[in-house]
Amino acid sequence: MNKKDILVTGGLGFIGSHTAVSLHEAGYRPILLDNLSNSELSVLEGIEKITGVAPVFFKGDVNDPSVLNGIFEQFHILAVIHFAAYKAVGESVEKPLEYYHNNVGGMINLLKVMKKQGVSNMVFSSSCTVYGEPEVIPVTENEPVKDATSPYGASKQMCETILKDVHWCHTQCLRYFNPVGAHESGFIGELPIGIPNNLVPYITQTAAGIREKLTVHGNDYPTADGTCIRDYIHVMDLADAHVAALSRLLESKEESYFETFNLGTGNGSSVMEVVEAFEKATGIKIPTTIGPRRAGDVVRVWADTTKVNRILQWKTKRNLQAMMADAWRWQLGLDKSKIKLGS
Ligand code: NAD
Ligand code: UFG
Repeated sequence: MNKKDILVTGGLGFIGSHTAVSLHEAGYRPILLDNLSNSELSVLEGIEKITGVAPVFFKGDVNDPSVLNGIFEQFHILAVIHFAAYKAVGESVEKPLEYYHNNVGGMINLLKVMKKQGVSNMVFSSSCTVYGEPEVIPVTENEPVKDATSPYGASKQMCETILKDVHWCHTQCLRYFNPVGAHESGFIGELPIGIPNNLVPYITQTAAGIREKLTVHGNDYPTADGTCIRDYIHVMDLADAHVAALSRLLESKEESYFETFNLGTGNGSSVMEVVEAFEKATGIKIPTTIGPRRAGDVVRVWADTTKVNRILQWKTKRNLQAMMADAWRWQLGLDKSKIKLGS
Protein backbone atom coordinates (compact mmCIF):
# COMPACT_ATOMS: atom_id res chain seq x y z
CA MET A 1 0.00 0.00 0.00
CA ASN A 2 1.54 3.25 -1.17
CA LYS A 3 -1.19 5.65 -0.29
CA LYS A 4 -0.25 9.14 0.84
CA ASP A 5 -1.33 9.80 4.43
CA ILE A 6 -3.32 12.93 5.23
CA LEU A 7 -4.43 13.79 8.76
CA VAL A 8 -8.07 14.92 8.80
CA THR A 9 -9.06 16.51 12.10
CA GLY A 10 -12.82 16.52 12.71
CA GLY A 11 -12.87 13.67 10.21
CA LEU A 12 -16.19 12.22 11.37
CA GLY A 13 -18.03 15.53 11.01
CA PHE A 14 -20.23 16.67 8.13
CA ILE A 15 -17.55 18.06 5.81
CA GLY A 16 -14.68 15.90 7.14
CA SER A 17 -16.47 12.61 6.42
CA HIS A 18 -17.27 13.63 2.82
CA THR A 19 -13.70 14.84 2.33
CA ALA A 20 -12.45 11.47 3.60
CA VAL A 21 -14.34 9.85 0.70
CA SER A 22 -12.91 12.29 -1.86
CA LEU A 23 -9.39 11.77 -0.50
CA HIS A 24 -9.76 8.01 -0.78
CA GLU A 25 -11.00 8.32 -4.35
CA ALA A 26 -8.04 10.55 -5.21
CA GLY A 27 -5.57 7.93 -3.93
CA TYR A 28 -4.82 9.36 -0.48
CA ARG A 29 -5.24 7.58 2.85
CA PRO A 30 -7.19 9.82 5.23
CA ILE A 31 -6.19 9.38 8.88
CA LEU A 32 -9.26 10.55 10.79
CA LEU A 33 -9.08 12.19 14.21
CA ASP A 34 -12.25 13.23 16.06
CA ASN A 35 -13.31 13.63 19.68
CA LEU A 36 -16.95 12.82 18.78
CA SER A 37 -18.17 16.06 20.37
CA ASN A 38 -20.44 16.59 17.35
CA SER A 39 -20.39 13.27 15.51
CA GLU A 40 -20.89 9.54 15.94
CA LEU A 41 -18.84 6.42 15.37
CA SER A 42 -21.46 5.14 12.90
CA VAL A 43 -20.04 7.65 10.37
CA LEU A 44 -17.11 5.22 9.97
CA GLU A 45 -19.50 2.53 8.67
CA GLY A 46 -20.96 5.02 6.19
CA ILE A 47 -17.51 5.86 4.83
CA GLU A 48 -16.62 2.17 4.62
CA LYS A 49 -19.82 1.37 2.71
CA ILE A 50 -18.90 3.98 0.11
CA THR A 51 -15.17 3.35 -0.21
CA GLY A 52 -15.02 -0.35 0.62
CA VAL A 53 -12.23 0.37 3.12
CA ALA A 54 -12.49 0.76 6.89
CA PRO A 55 -11.00 4.20 7.60
CA VAL A 56 -8.08 4.64 9.98
CA PHE A 57 -9.61 6.43 12.95
CA PHE A 58 -8.35 7.85 16.25
CA LYS A 59 -10.72 9.06 18.93
CA GLY A 60 -8.94 12.05 20.39
CA ASP A 61 -8.78 15.79 20.79
CA VAL A 62 -6.70 18.28 18.80
CA ASN A 63 -6.00 19.95 22.13
CA ASP A 64 -4.12 16.85 23.25
CA PRO A 65 -0.47 16.91 22.05
CA SER A 66 0.13 13.27 22.94
CA VAL A 67 -2.60 12.02 20.58
CA LEU A 68 -1.28 14.21 17.77
CA ASN A 69 2.36 13.25 18.34
CA GLY A 70 1.36 9.59 18.37
CA ILE A 71 -0.32 9.92 14.96
CA PHE A 72 2.59 11.84 13.40
CA GLU A 73 5.02 9.23 14.73
CA GLN A 74 2.97 6.28 13.46
CA PHE A 75 2.22 7.62 9.97
CA HIS A 76 4.11 9.62 7.40
CA ILE A 77 1.66 12.55 7.34
CA LEU A 78 2.12 14.84 4.32
CA ALA A 79 -0.49 17.43 5.24
CA VAL A 80 -3.27 18.22 7.68
CA ILE A 81 -6.83 19.16 6.75
CA HIS A 82 -8.11 20.90 9.86
CA PHE A 83 -11.89 20.74 10.25
CA ALA A 84 -12.11 20.17 14.02
CA ALA A 85 -13.96 23.10 15.59
CA TYR A 86 -17.24 24.04 17.21
CA LYS A 87 -19.55 25.72 14.69
CA ALA A 88 -22.82 26.90 16.24
CA VAL A 89 -23.00 30.68 15.98
CA GLY A 90 -25.66 31.12 18.70
CA GLU A 91 -23.94 28.76 21.13
CA SER A 92 -20.68 30.65 20.65
CA VAL A 93 -22.34 33.76 22.06
CA GLU A 94 -23.31 31.76 25.17
CA LYS A 95 -19.95 30.00 25.51
CA PRO A 96 -17.27 32.27 24.03
CA LEU A 97 -14.37 30.83 26.05
CA GLU A 98 -15.18 27.26 25.00
CA TYR A 99 -15.23 28.41 21.38
CA TYR A 100 -11.94 30.29 21.57
CA HIS A 101 -10.32 27.42 23.48
CA ASN A 102 -11.44 24.77 20.99
CA ASN A 103 -11.22 26.64 17.70
CA VAL A 104 -8.22 28.88 18.32
CA GLY A 105 -6.43 26.95 21.10
CA GLY A 106 -6.93 23.66 19.25
CA MET A 107 -5.35 25.03 16.08
CA ILE A 108 -2.39 26.52 17.99
CA ASN A 109 -1.76 23.16 19.64
CA LEU A 110 -1.97 21.44 16.26
CA LEU A 111 0.49 23.92 14.72
CA LYS A 112 2.98 23.41 17.57
CA VAL A 113 2.91 19.65 17.06
CA MET A 114 3.14 20.02 13.27
CA LYS A 115 6.22 22.20 13.71
CA LYS A 116 7.84 19.71 16.06
CA GLN A 117 7.07 16.86 13.65
CA GLY A 118 8.24 18.74 10.55
CA VAL A 119 4.84 18.86 8.82
CA SER A 120 4.21 22.20 7.14
CA ASN A 121 1.13 21.78 4.91
CA MET A 122 -2.32 22.76 6.13
CA VAL A 123 -5.76 23.11 4.56
CA PHE A 124 -7.90 25.24 6.87
CA SER A 125 -11.71 25.48 7.14
CA SER A 126 -12.75 29.11 7.15
CA SER A 127 -16.07 30.69 6.34
CA CYS A 128 -17.66 33.41 4.21
CA THR A 129 -18.88 34.75 7.53
CA VAL A 130 -15.55 36.64 7.67
CA TYR A 131 -16.92 39.01 4.97
CA GLY A 132 -20.01 40.00 7.00
CA GLU A 133 -22.41 41.99 4.80
CA PRO A 134 -20.14 42.47 1.79
CA GLU A 135 -19.87 45.78 -0.08
CA VAL A 136 -19.47 44.12 -3.47
CA ILE A 137 -21.36 41.06 -4.76
CA PRO A 138 -20.24 38.53 -5.93
CA VAL A 139 -17.60 38.43 -3.20
CA THR A 140 -13.96 38.10 -4.20
CA GLU A 141 -11.18 37.02 -1.86
CA ASN A 142 -10.08 40.70 -1.78
CA GLU A 143 -13.27 41.79 -0.02
CA PRO A 144 -12.20 43.22 3.36
CA VAL A 145 -12.71 41.07 6.44
CA LYS A 146 -15.35 42.76 8.64
CA ASP A 147 -15.70 42.91 12.41
CA ALA A 148 -17.05 39.53 13.49
CA THR A 149 -20.59 39.43 14.87
CA SER A 150 -20.08 36.30 17.01
CA PRO A 151 -17.27 34.53 18.88
CA TYR A 152 -17.55 31.75 16.27
CA GLY A 153 -16.89 34.23 13.45
CA ALA A 154 -14.13 35.87 15.48
CA SER A 155 -12.50 32.48 16.08
CA LYS A 156 -12.25 31.90 12.31
CA GLN A 157 -10.75 35.36 11.79
CA MET A 158 -8.24 34.78 14.60
CA CYS A 159 -7.20 31.45 13.09
CA GLU A 160 -6.68 33.15 9.71
CA THR A 161 -4.55 35.86 11.37
CA ILE A 162 -2.44 33.26 13.18
CA LEU A 163 -1.90 31.26 10.00
CA LYS A 164 -0.75 34.45 8.24
CA ASP A 165 1.80 34.99 11.02
CA VAL A 166 3.09 31.42 10.99
CA HIS A 167 5.24 31.69 7.90
CA TRP A 168 6.68 28.17 7.95
CA CYS A 169 3.19 26.71 7.52
CA HIS A 170 1.92 26.53 3.93
CA THR A 171 -1.81 27.16 4.22
CA GLN A 172 -4.69 26.88 1.82
CA CYS A 173 -7.41 28.83 3.61
CA LEU A 174 -10.80 27.81 2.23
CA ARG A 175 -13.75 30.11 2.90
CA TYR A 176 -16.90 28.03 2.60
CA PHE A 177 -20.20 29.55 1.59
CA ASN A 178 -23.22 27.39 2.58
CA PRO A 179 -22.40 23.66 2.49
CA VAL A 180 -25.50 21.45 2.12
CA GLY A 181 -26.53 18.06 0.74
CA ALA A 182 -24.99 14.67 1.39
CA HIS A 183 -23.07 11.94 -0.42
CA GLU A 184 -25.25 10.68 -3.26
CA SER A 185 -25.29 7.17 -1.72
CA GLY A 186 -27.17 8.50 1.32
CA PHE A 187 -24.66 6.68 3.60
CA ILE A 188 -23.15 9.87 5.08
CA GLY A 189 -24.60 13.34 5.60
CA GLU A 190 -25.16 16.00 8.22
CA LEU A 191 -26.21 14.75 11.68
CA PRO A 192 -28.93 16.91 13.14
CA ILE A 193 -28.43 18.12 16.70
CA GLY A 194 -31.52 19.64 18.31
CA ILE A 195 -33.78 21.92 16.32
CA PRO A 196 -31.84 22.71 13.15
CA ASN A 197 -30.68 26.27 12.88
CA ASN A 198 -29.79 25.89 9.22
CA LEU A 199 -32.25 26.01 6.36
CA VAL A 200 -31.71 22.71 4.56
CA PRO A 201 -31.84 20.35 7.58
CA TYR A 202 -34.94 22.23 8.70
CA ILE A 203 -36.55 21.63 5.30
CA THR A 204 -35.70 17.90 5.26
CA GLN A 205 -36.98 17.44 8.82
CA THR A 206 -40.20 19.24 7.88
CA ALA A 207 -40.60 16.98 4.84
CA ALA A 208 -40.05 13.97 7.12
CA GLY A 209 -42.80 15.17 9.45
CA ILE A 210 -40.42 15.84 12.37
CA ARG A 211 -41.13 19.60 12.18
CA GLU A 212 -44.56 21.00 11.46
CA LYS A 213 -43.58 23.80 9.10
CA LEU A 214 -40.65 25.93 8.00
CA THR A 215 -40.56 29.47 9.31
CA VAL A 216 -39.03 31.77 6.71
CA HIS A 217 -37.05 34.36 8.64
CA GLY A 218 -38.30 37.52 6.95
CA ASN A 219 -39.64 38.23 3.45
CA ASP A 220 -39.19 41.99 3.46
CA TYR A 221 -35.53 42.10 2.44
CA PRO A 222 -34.44 44.09 -0.63
CA THR A 223 -34.27 40.97 -2.87
CA ALA A 224 -36.57 39.84 -5.71
CA ASP A 225 -38.83 37.69 -3.49
CA GLY A 226 -37.94 39.45 -0.22
CA THR A 227 -36.00 36.51 1.30
CA CYS A 228 -32.25 36.33 1.97
CA ILE A 229 -29.83 35.02 -0.62
CA ARG A 230 -26.97 32.57 -0.05
CA ASP A 231 -24.57 30.54 -2.15
CA TYR A 232 -25.43 26.89 -1.38
CA ILE A 233 -22.73 24.41 -2.32
CA HIS A 234 -22.97 20.61 -2.45
CA VAL A 235 -20.79 19.07 0.25
CA MET A 236 -19.20 16.66 -2.28
CA ASP A 237 -18.16 19.58 -4.50
CA LEU A 238 -16.72 21.17 -1.37
CA ALA A 239 -14.92 17.93 -0.49
CA ASP A 240 -13.37 17.78 -3.97
CA ALA A 241 -12.05 21.33 -3.55
CA HIS A 242 -10.05 20.12 -0.53
CA VAL A 243 -8.34 17.54 -2.71
CA ALA A 244 -7.52 20.24 -5.26
CA ALA A 245 -6.09 22.51 -2.55
CA LEU A 246 -4.07 19.63 -1.15
CA SER A 247 -2.57 18.85 -4.55
CA ARG A 248 -1.51 22.48 -4.90
CA LEU A 249 0.37 22.21 -1.60
CA LEU A 250 1.93 18.82 -2.28
CA GLU A 251 3.05 19.90 -5.74
CA SER A 252 4.45 23.15 -4.22
CA LYS A 253 2.48 25.26 -6.68
CA GLU A 254 1.46 27.98 -4.22
CA GLU A 255 2.46 31.55 -4.96
CA SER A 256 2.43 32.45 -1.28
CA TYR A 257 2.55 30.55 2.01
CA PHE A 258 -1.02 31.71 2.78
CA GLU A 259 -3.62 31.55 0.04
CA THR A 260 -7.37 32.05 0.38
CA PHE A 261 -10.11 30.69 -1.86
CA ASN A 262 -13.86 31.22 -1.85
CA LEU A 263 -15.73 27.93 -2.11
CA GLY A 264 -19.16 28.51 -3.56
CA THR A 265 -21.00 27.95 -6.82
CA GLY A 266 -21.02 31.60 -7.83
CA ASN A 267 -24.85 31.64 -7.77
CA GLY A 268 -27.12 33.00 -5.09
CA SER A 269 -30.46 31.39 -4.18
CA SER A 270 -33.16 32.88 -2.00
CA VAL A 271 -34.82 30.97 0.82
CA MET A 272 -37.95 30.54 -1.33
CA GLU A 273 -35.87 29.28 -4.27
CA VAL A 274 -34.33 26.63 -2.01
CA VAL A 275 -37.79 25.52 -0.88
CA GLU A 276 -38.94 25.37 -4.53
CA ALA A 277 -35.87 23.35 -5.54
CA PHE A 278 -36.59 20.87 -2.74
CA GLU A 279 -40.22 20.54 -3.80
CA LYS A 280 -39.21 20.02 -7.43
CA ALA A 281 -36.52 17.46 -6.58
CA THR A 282 -38.71 15.40 -4.23
CA GLY A 283 -42.33 16.14 -5.12
CA ILE A 284 -42.97 16.98 -1.45
CA LYS A 285 -44.67 20.24 -0.54
CA ILE A 286 -43.07 22.13 2.38
CA PRO A 287 -45.52 24.01 4.58
CA THR A 288 -44.08 27.46 5.27
CA THR A 289 -44.96 30.46 7.36
CA ILE A 290 -43.36 33.90 7.30
CA GLY A 291 -41.71 34.94 10.55
CA PRO A 292 -39.72 37.98 11.60
CA ARG A 293 -36.17 38.60 10.43
CA ARG A 294 -33.47 36.59 12.27
CA ALA A 295 -30.95 38.76 14.11
CA GLY A 296 -27.56 38.92 12.45
CA ASP A 297 -28.63 37.59 9.01
CA VAL A 298 -26.85 39.20 6.07
CA VAL A 299 -29.18 40.08 3.17
CA ARG A 300 -27.29 38.50 0.32
CA VAL A 301 -23.96 36.90 -0.25
CA TRP A 302 -22.54 34.74 -3.02
CA ALA A 303 -19.05 33.95 -4.18
CA ASP A 304 -16.98 35.19 -7.05
CA THR A 305 -15.37 31.89 -8.03
CA THR A 306 -13.00 33.25 -10.69
CA LYS A 307 -9.86 32.77 -8.56
CA VAL A 308 -10.66 29.28 -7.31
CA ASN A 309 -11.84 28.06 -10.74
CA ARG A 310 -8.63 29.26 -12.37
CA ILE A 311 -6.01 28.47 -9.76
CA LEU A 312 -7.33 25.26 -8.22
CA GLN A 313 -8.81 24.12 -11.55
CA TRP A 314 -11.96 23.24 -9.62
CA LYS A 315 -15.61 23.94 -10.40
CA THR A 316 -18.83 22.83 -8.77
CA LYS A 317 -20.70 20.09 -10.64
CA ARG A 318 -23.95 19.69 -8.69
CA ASN A 319 -26.94 22.05 -8.86
CA LEU A 320 -29.42 23.06 -6.18
CA GLN A 321 -31.87 20.28 -7.07
CA ALA A 322 -29.13 17.66 -6.71
CA MET A 323 -28.24 19.16 -3.31
CA MET A 324 -31.87 18.82 -2.23
CA ALA A 325 -32.32 15.30 -3.62
CA ASP A 326 -29.17 14.09 -1.83
CA ALA A 327 -30.07 15.82 1.46
CA TRP A 328 -33.49 14.11 1.26
CA ARG A 329 -32.00 10.67 0.52
CA TRP A 330 -29.81 11.04 3.61
CA GLN A 331 -32.75 12.19 5.74
CA LEU A 332 -34.82 9.17 4.60
CA GLY A 333 -32.09 6.77 5.65
CA LEU A 334 -31.53 8.40 9.05
CA ASP A 335 -32.40 6.26 11.99
CA LYS A 336 -35.02 8.42 13.74
CA SER A 337 -33.53 7.50 17.13
CA LYS A 338 -30.37 9.37 16.08
CA ILE A 339 -32.23 12.61 15.53
CA LYS A 340 -31.87 14.64 18.69
CA LEU A 341 -35.13 16.55 18.58
CA GLY A 342 -34.40 19.36 21.03
CA SER A 343 -37.15 21.15 22.88
P1 NAD B 1 -19.07 19.26 12.24
O1 NAD B 1 -19.42 19.70 13.61
O2 NAD B 1 -20.00 18.34 11.55
O3 NAD B 1 -17.61 18.61 12.22
C1 NAD B 1 -16.59 19.00 13.09
C2 NAD B 1 -16.03 17.74 13.73
O4 NAD B 1 -14.96 18.12 14.59
C3 NAD B 1 -17.05 17.01 14.60
O5 NAD B 1 -17.09 15.65 14.23
C4 NAD B 1 -16.54 17.19 16.03
O6 NAD B 1 -16.83 16.05 16.83
C5 NAD B 1 -15.05 17.37 15.80
N1 NAD B 1 -14.34 18.17 16.81
C6 NAD B 1 -14.70 19.36 17.35
N2 NAD B 1 -13.76 19.77 18.22
C7 NAD B 1 -12.79 18.83 18.21
C8 NAD B 1 -11.56 18.69 18.90
N3 NAD B 1 -11.14 19.58 19.79
N4 NAD B 1 -10.80 17.60 18.64
C9 NAD B 1 -11.21 16.67 17.75
N5 NAD B 1 -12.36 16.73 17.09
C10 NAD B 1 -13.14 17.81 17.32
O7 NAD B 1 -18.85 20.58 11.36
P2 NAD B 1 -18.68 20.73 9.79
O8 NAD B 1 -19.92 21.34 9.25
O9 NAD B 1 -18.16 19.47 9.21
O10 NAD B 1 -17.57 21.87 9.75
C11 NAD B 1 -16.19 21.56 9.60
C12 NAD B 1 -15.39 22.83 9.64
O11 NAD B 1 -15.87 23.73 8.64
C13 NAD B 1 -15.48 23.60 10.95
O12 NAD B 1 -14.22 24.15 11.22
C14 NAD B 1 -16.50 24.67 10.65
O13 NAD B 1 -16.31 25.80 11.47
C15 NAD B 1 -16.18 24.99 9.21
N6 NAD B 1 -17.31 25.58 8.47
C16 NAD B 1 -18.50 24.91 8.40
C17 NAD B 1 -19.59 25.50 7.73
C18 NAD B 1 -20.92 24.81 7.66
O14 NAD B 1 -21.91 25.49 7.33
N7 NAD B 1 -21.02 23.51 7.93
C19 NAD B 1 -19.42 26.74 7.09
C20 NAD B 1 -18.18 27.37 7.15
C21 NAD B 1 -17.12 26.78 7.85
N1 UFG C 1 -33.59 30.33 7.29
C1 UFG C 1 -34.97 30.39 7.39
N2 UFG C 1 -35.59 29.49 8.21
C2 UFG C 1 -34.90 28.54 8.92
C3 UFG C 1 -33.49 28.50 8.80
C4 UFG C 1 -32.87 29.42 7.97
O1 UFG C 1 -35.63 31.23 6.78
O2 UFG C 1 -35.51 27.77 9.66
C5 UFG C 1 -32.92 31.30 6.39
C6 UFG C 1 -31.95 32.20 7.15
O3 UFG C 1 -32.64 33.29 7.73
C7 UFG C 1 -31.01 32.61 6.02
C8 UFG C 1 -30.98 31.35 5.12
O4 UFG C 1 -32.14 30.60 5.47
O5 UFG C 1 -31.58 33.65 5.29
C9 UFG C 1 -29.74 30.51 5.34
O6 UFG C 1 -29.61 30.25 6.74
P1 UFG C 1 -28.61 29.15 7.33
O7 UFG C 1 -28.76 29.20 8.81
O8 UFG C 1 -28.83 27.84 6.65
O9 UFG C 1 -27.19 29.67 6.86
P2 UFG C 1 -26.40 31.00 7.23
O10 UFG C 1 -26.01 31.63 5.93
O11 UFG C 1 -27.13 31.86 8.15
O12 UFG C 1 -25.13 30.48 8.03
C10 UFG C 1 -24.36 29.32 7.64
C11 UFG C 1 -23.74 28.71 8.90
C12 UFG C 1 -22.71 29.64 9.49
C13 UFG C 1 -21.69 29.99 8.46
C14 UFG C 1 -22.37 30.57 7.25
C15 UFG C 1 -21.39 30.84 6.15
O13 UFG C 1 -24.76 28.46 9.87
O14 UFG C 1 -22.04 28.98 10.54
O15 UFG C 1 -23.37 29.66 6.74
O16 UFG C 1 -20.67 29.68 5.86
F1 UFG C 1 -20.83 30.92 8.97
